[in-house]
Amino acid sequence: MQKLEVLGANKLKGQVKISGSKNASLPILAATLLSKKKIILKNLPKVKDIQTMITLLKSLGSKVRFNINQTIIDNTQQKKKFASYNLVKTMRAGILVLGPLLAKYRSAKVSLPGGCAIGSRPVDIHLKALSKLGVKYKINQGYVIANAPYGLKGNKINFSKISVGATENLIIAACLAKGTTILSNCAIEPEIKDLTNFLNKMGCRIKWVSKRTIRIIGVSEINEISYSVMFDRIEAGTYCVAAGVTGGNLTIKNVIPEIIKTEINVLKKIGLKIKIRKNEVQVIGNKKIRNMKIKTAPYPGFPTDLQAQIMVLLCKANKSSIIQEDIFENRFMHVAELNRMGAKILTIGNKAIIEGNINFASAELMATDLRASVSLVLAALTAKGKSVINRIYHLDRGYENIEKKLKKLGAKIKRVNNE
Ligand code: EPZ
Repeated sequence: MQKLEVLGANKLKGQVKISGSKNASLPILAATLLSKKKIILKNLPKVKDIQTMITLLKSLGSKVRFNINQTIIDNTQQKKKFASYNLVKTMRAGILVLGPLLAKYRSAKVSLPGGCAIGSRPVDIHLKALSKLGVKYKINQGYVIANAPYGLKGNKINFSKISVGATENLIIAACLAKGTTILSNCAIEPEIKDLTNFLNKMGCRIKWVSKRTIRIIGVSEINEISYSVMFDRIEAGTYCVAAGVTGGNLTIKNVIPEIIKTEINVLKKIGLKIKIRKNEVQVIGNKKIRNMKIKTAPYPGFPTDLQAQIMVLLCKANKSSIIQEDIFENRFMHVAELNRMGAKILTIGNKAIIEGNINFASAELMATDLRASVSLVLAALTAKGKSVINRIYHLDRGYENIEKKLKKLGAKIKRVNNE
């Protein structure tokens, strides 16, 4: 296993280029299964979860080649419909192959994702909605065994709860269903818009008819296309927070500021100076950090994937703040580690009360999940002395070249192998 050694405290200064979005790439990669031809994808981030999804596609018979910054997926020989536990267990988005496999083959056997550090990660909403398209399924030894003997048939579906993954699975499945599908109460994260742009470019017929309602008319032909995925708005938000936490001055490039306006507005209210240009955002730290009350919510609300990061910044506010985590049931795993660095954070149910005016002390730390681990890096950057962050495989799931990017911004950070 590897760990990161961080020598703080440093102000981060300079420019950072944001990579492609992990959470747009995963459903788009799953959706390539709809095609029996070749699909070229560009700007996929070089992170573990993408490698895992590509390994999953290869296990289903897709041929995958890489050159420079494009990934060529060739499905001319793709025939398998079994997604195994050992791949899906490490990357819950593996469940996203269920929809396209059912659409293409009318049957599939896909491992249930199982829980993770942040929650139980059920897929009941996915399955209930798929059954509305004519899918019969049973759960057997941790696998979903699903069939649609007469093929998928379009239908009207209202999601009981806003779910990013369920929305994505159903959009992809409905692309080849017979007739029209109307999905309402959809998640509308930018990554889902990127998915529908990709699918329409492939020849699917998808239209957002109102804020959270989408209409999909099934097609039978899918074109060979090439597509470049959008920027990673959570990576972008993480670097915006890093500028605030270290009191630095960062220009975050390759972004669409409009997409991260909620985060930008929160950071402005907290007191950071923010300049917005066409494809970049400049964030300048400030000595005076104001306290806030933040609730995580589905897009366009404040993203749960930035909750751990903003918590580190609020430790430096002038007074106590409150963060309410309304999406996942156990997403405060970073709190105990931050408290070991001198933070004073109290969690009561899904609320965290964060005392301000904290100076983090360096420590030996344990990463628990992807976003919690990056919050430990942010705290370590501002703590005097050497901090060590263990189990950074969590970090490598979603942040491309993090220590290289941070080093370029003035951080003293290195990756070492555990003895
Ligand atoms: C996606 O997860 C993201 N992952 C998560 O990012 C993100 O935190 C989450 O959306 C919320 O924005 C990817 O896009 C790969 P949900 P997903 O279905 O689809 C419950 C990261 O750090 N639920 O919107 O799994 C669920 O338990 C990751 O990059 C059901 O009850 O999220 C959760 O409480 C972490 N039944 C809530 O809904 C279901 O069938 C939202 O989950 C599905 C979900």
